[in-house]
Amino acid sequence: MVTMSEDFDTFVNNLQEQIFDEAREAFGDAGFERWRNPRYCGPLADADAHARVTGECGDTMEIFLKFENDRVCNAAYRTDGCASSTVCGSFAAEMTVGKTPEEVADISGEAILEKIGRFPDEDHHCAFLAAETIREALGQYMRNQTPHGNK
Ligand code: FES
Repeated sequence: MVTMSEDFDTFVNNLQEQIFDEAREAFGDAGFERWRNPRYCGPLADADAHARVTGECGDTMEIFLKFENDRVCNAAYRTDGCASSTVCGSFAAEMTVGKTPEEVADISGEAILEKIGRFPDEDHHCAFLAAETIREALGQYMRNQTPHGNK
């Protein structure tokens, strides 16, 4: 005899499988994997630069950058947004690692989307939000490099 709790478990399992299938379809294998196991998840306590930008969608992206010898040696992201912003933030943070400020400045929303591979059209703005947040964090780092940077 099937109990109500078994019915419920089956329902939940099916629902989860459906969600996973849809996410894999939307983000491709690399993006799906990153959504399931986000890397470069912040905050980063000893960051040299940190920016927080709220997009038009109302979601906030944060980027933390740590520099050593004028290259990013560690990075992290944090977001209160959707699965798409998690995937973008994670790849965006990863893309800064090992780069000089000039190279970090070149990370565009398009570059983040290209790195992910497949991404829902309607969520492209999440990648542009991540790129904008990187630029804000980089700007803060650059200002701190000059003697009167914060004035
Ligand atoms: Fe707002 Fe993704 S950042 S929907």
